[in-house]
Amino acid sequence: MVPEMRVHVVNSDSRDHFMACELRREVFFSHLGSDFDGVRDDREEESIHAVIRGEKGVRACGRLTAIGPAGWVVTQMCVDERWRGRGLGSRILTTLLAQAVKHGGGRIELASRLKAVGFYRRFGFIPAGEPYPSPRTGAMLLRMVLELSAN
Ligand SMILES: CC(C)(COP(=O)(O)OP(=O)(O)OC[C@H]1O[C@@H](n2cnc3c(N)ncnc32)[C@H](O)[C@@H]1OP(=O)(O)O)[C@@H](O)C(=O)NCCC(=O)NCCS
Repeated sequence: MVPEMRVHVVNSDSRDHFMACELRREVFFSHLGSDFDGVRDDREEESIHAVIRGEKGVRACGRLTAIGPAGWVVTQMCVDERWRGRGLGSRILTTLLAQAVKHGGGRIELASRLKAVGFYRRFGFIPAGEPYPSPRTGAMLLRMVLELSAN
C-alpha cells in the first residue's frame, strides 16, 4: 500500500488528532471563521480516531464513539478536498467499522450530509428518518444506521 493511504488509529492527545481537527475545521466549519472554537467536543477523549497522514497534516479522518452497551456513532468523517475520490474516506470508514466489530459490534449510527448519503449506502448504511438541519452548521443531515455483528 502506498504510504499516503495507510490508516492510523490515534489518541486524542496526539499531533495527528490536532491535525485532524484542523482538517475538520476546514471541511465543516470554515464558513464560521478561523476564530470558531467548537471543532472539538466532549467526545474526543473517549473516542477512537482514525487518520491518514499527509506531508503537512492529515488528509482524511473519522471518529468512532461508543453510545451505550451495543451502539456506536461515526462522526467527523472528512477528506481533504484535494484527495477526495481516491479511496481515503473508504479506508477511514472501513477501519472504524473494523474497530467497532473488534469491540463487539452492534448498531452503528451516523448523521450524513445529504451529499454523502450515497457514500455510506455503499457500506450498507440505511437511511432512518427524515433530513434535518445540523444544529451546529446548518447543513442538512440524514440519520443512517448499520447493524454489525461481532467477529
Ligand atoms: C464523503 C467523503 C468522506 C468520501 O470520501 P472519499 O475519499 O472522497 O470517498 P472514496 O474515494 O473512498 O469513495 C468510495 C466510493 O464511494 C463513492 N463516493 C464518494 N463520495 C460519494 C458521494 N458523496 N455519493 C455517492 N458516492 C460517493 C466514490 O465514487 C467511490 O466509488 P468507487 O469505489 O466505485 O470508485 C468525502 O468526500 C468528504 O470528506 N466530503 C465532505 C465532508 C462530508 O460530507 N463528510 C461526510 C458526511 S458528514
